[in-house]
Parts: sequence; C-alpha cells; structure tokens
Amino acid sequence: MEEAARKKIIFSGIQPSGDLTLGSYMGAIKNWVALSDEYECYYCIVDMHAITVRQVPADLRRRALSQLAQYIACGLDPKKNTLFIQSHVPAHAQLGWVLDCYTMFGELSRMTQFKDKSSKNADNINAGLFTYPALMAADILLYQTDLVPVDQKQHVEICRDIAMRFNNIYGDVFTIPDPYIPPTGARIMSLTSPENKMSKSDKDPGGCIYIMQSPDDIMRCFKRAVTDSETGHCVYACPEKLGVTNLMQIYSVCTGKTMDEIEAEFDGMGYGAFKPAVGEAVVETLRPIREEAERLMKDKAYLEDILRDGAERAAYAANRTLRKVYKKIGFVQI
Ligand code: TRP
Repeated sequence: MEEAARKKIIFSGIQPSGDLTLGSYMGAIKNWVALSDEYECYYCIVDMHAITVRQVPADLRRRALSQLAQYIACGLDPKKNTLFIQSHVPAHAQLGWVLDCYTMFGELSRMTQFKDKSSKNADNINAGLFTYPALMAADILLYQTDLVPVDQKQHVEICRDIAMRFNNIYGDVFTIPDPYIPPTGARIMSLTSPENKMSKSDKDPGGCIYIMQSPDDIMRCFKRAVTDSETGHCVYACPEKLGVTNLMQIYSVCTGKTMDEIEAEFDGMGYGAFKPAVGEAVVETLRPIREEAERLMKDKAYLEDILRDGAERAAYAANRTLRKVYKKIGFVQI
C-alpha cells in the first residue's frame, strides 16, 4: 500500500557560483515549480560544487542566501519542497567520498564539463573539479531519486553507472535515477551569441539576463540582442534565425503565446519594435519575482528558518541511505 502511494522523488540543484539567470528560471526553476505537487522534490543550493572554482567568500555567502530567496520568489513553496544548502547536510560530503572510491579515473577524464572547466581555469585544475560528478552522484543517490531535471545528461549517466556498479556489488542500495526532460522545456540561448546557452559564465555581459537585474539593464540588453540581417526583418522562427527564434521563445514563455501567434503579432513590424517588446515582457515577468526576493532578503531570520528546516528534512532522508551504504561496505556501526 505505502509503496504504491509513494510519490516519485526529484532532486536538482544549481550552483551559487553566480546570480540566477533568466535561462535557469525559464529552463529549470519554472518547471520545478510545476513538479512540486506531483513529486517529492529536493531542490538544493550546491555550494560544495561551487568551490571547485575559486569564490569570493562574501559573495558566495550572499548568493547562496539570495538564491534561496529567488527560489521562493519564483514560486517554490518551502512547505511543499525541501529547499536546502548542500553544505548543511554532511551526508553529501560523506557519500561523496565513498563514491569517489567507486568512480574510475577514466570515466571522470571523459566528462566534457571537466574538459571545459579545466581549460577555462587552467591555473586551478583541482581534484574537486575532477571528482565533481561523484559528488553530484552522491547528491542524487542520497535521496533515492527517481528523476533528475538537468540539461547535462552526461552527469546523470555517470551517476547511473556509479549506482549500478555499487548495486552490483552490494545489492539494491540505490534507486537508479533517470534524467527528466520537461515536456515544455525552454532552452534559453545567449542574447549576443544565440548558438550558445545563456550562461552566467558568458564573456559578453549583454548575453545573459539575471532574475535580479534592473528593468533598465534588461531593456538595454534586449535592445542590443543579436538578430540577423535578413531583409524585411521578419519575425519568424527557423533554425537559420537563432537570435530571433530565441527571442520568440523567451516572449512565448513570458506571455504564454505560441510561436504562430507571436509571428502574427509582429507581422510587418520589424526587429526595432520586436526586441523592446520582448524586453518589456521579460521585465514584467521578472518584476514581481525580483520584488519578492528583495523583500525576503530583508528577512534573514525567515530564510534561516527555511534553511534549518530544509537541512533537517534532507538530512533525515540522506542519513538513511548513508547508514545503509556504510553498513554494506563494512564500516563498523556503533
Ligand atoms: N552540476 C549542476 C550544474 O552545474 C549542479 C548540480 C550539482 C546538480 N548536483 C546536482 C544538478 C544534482 C542536478 C542534480 O548546474
């Protein structure tokens, strides 16, 4: 009975290595909100992953708290979801170490994110950057997660491999997770190089929009967004018009309109009218989120209560798995 009624478990996380972007809102968090009722969800602020790249301590601290405020302002109800900071639940580090010993040098070497990040941080290719996927596997496996909303499928694949390797030796300890591709996933691209995903590590600051950015800045970025030089400046979606298609997608998420409706709305108007209209729509979508997050940031006691409660709930679930793992591998129980 109980087993049949069990809600499926979802785990996902974002690093507080920069401010949250419009891309993470539209591509991830907005979908997370929609999953809250149907699934048991753990949404983590993965500060331990963030230190694989050198951080300024005061910024890291501020961003982790602000990320929680933004999660809540985006609609993630802390009563329905477990919202917590990774470093508050020691089981992540503990299982991370164990899984390091069940993860092969060769498979870590093949991870594209390691290759990317080590070329971007050539002066700090540390061991944590290399074993990052084993810690990520610990995050996921601690909660007996069924589904992981991510866009890097490779990370869920290595997690599955590690879990299966472990289960093959010790029996069914871990649930094998699947990547979750949301039905209405929006993959938001950079405004200045629309062939790349919108990212906080974008070299061109105009390419990335942040949830907490001021309306003026947002408008400026949209007015400068890259389109194309097709004569007529027609607004329609196609693979050759990456910039315009991306802007249409953003507008669609903000307004709920379909691509056809958007094409009709801007018929004959050109990019000069289209780009600021998208900017306005984004400003109005983000305004209530920004204002609510700003309000929450003034209430540190409330945020800290949420974090304590989240850490307690997460630790309860995580420690069950960790105890089982320790027992299976032969650690002495006292
Ligand atoms: N690797 C993810 C990123 O770079 C963050 C992350 C850490 C994560 N642990 C996770 C995502 C577990 C999903 C599940 O954004």
